Amino acid sequence: MEPNWEEFYANQPKPSDLESSKKLLNDFVERYSDGHTRIALVTSGGTTVPLEHNTVRFVDNFSAGTRGSVSTEYFLEHGYAVIFMYRIKSLEPFSRHFTGQKFLDMLDLTERDGKPQLTVSETYSEDVAQALIKYKSALKQGKLFQLSFTTLSEYLWLLRAASQALAPLGKRVILYLAAAVSDFYVPSNEMSVHKIGSAVGAPKIALHLVPKILKPLVNLWVPKAFVISFKLETDENLLISKARASLNTYNHKLVIANMLQTRKQKVTMVDKDKDYVISLTNEQMNRGEEIEKYIIDDLVKRHEEFLSAKETS
Ligand code: PMT
Repeated sequence: MEPNWEEFYANQPKPSDLESSKKLLNDFVERYSDGHTRIALVTSGGTTVPLEHNTVRFVDNFSAGTRGSVSTEYFLEHGYAVIFMYRIKSLEPFSRHFTGQKFLDMLDLTERDGKPQLTVSETYSEDVAQALIKYKSALKQGKLFQLSFTTLSEYLWLLRAASQALAPLGKRVILYLAAAVSDFYVPSNEMSVHKIGSAVGAPKIALHLVPKILKPLVNLWVPKAFVISFKLETDENLLISKARASLNTYNHKLVIANMLQTRKQKVTMVDKDKDYVISLTNEQMNRGEEIEKYIIDDLVKRHEEFLSAKETS
């Protein structure tokens, strides 16, 4: 049986900087009490589940943070202010274009007055300049705020704090929950304090269920917001039925369903009444187009319709 989310939270260690994160979140949200700017909370990357209190080992997942970081850039292009909540060391908007390059290969040295001067190598200078212009502009306008997490419990506390800070902005808020969040964890009282030794043989570690956080999030924390969750599967036969089941259970607006193997080329947008595919052709993929551009174009239209729809209750 799924555990009760309130009890679960009560047993999760709070990040030591939670209060300062809350203050920064409130400052950011305050800036947008103007009544018109739209705001997206984008979660990105995977959560870890520690196996020891003094953590040497942990359970992790594959998510690189591509979906979240690329989508953030497109939300910003559409004029949204974005809170980007990401796993430390996963991809970040703008700098993601250079991840995987050797940092030192991107730099050159010249000399002035006998002193070394650092420049960006010609191969990268145009791309770095373009990314830097957009990044600095987002920061200067106060449109991008980044918050990071590593563990499941850090993610959960931050998600709750961000949702509660955003709640007063009502329908103008999109929650775009692209992070890959663990469904399983080791309770604190069952965790080894120190590094698990091998002398006594293989450890028996029992993973317990994490409650689905979508439940309190949709019903209690941001009841007016446009909440979008993702559904990831590896068996195509389960994808759409599970996405629809999630919508029916949590009552949010949309599930973006994707398969692990094809997630960069195809997604299915699933709402209560219909589902449709957004995909890239092989030619588009080869040209370096990104599916997130089309996902966000679609979401911005849907959010617009949602904002102009009359309240029914
Ligand atoms: O980062 P990339 O490499 O680009 O990969 C992108 C992605 C595949 C990770 C992304 O597109 C995606 O599908 N993210 C969601 C993955 C996931 O956790 O799927 P799920 O089916 O296990 O969970 C469904 C939803 O439930 C998620 O939106 C999640 O926020 C939510 N959830 C999950 C666990 C939990 N305990 N509580 C939740 O509310």
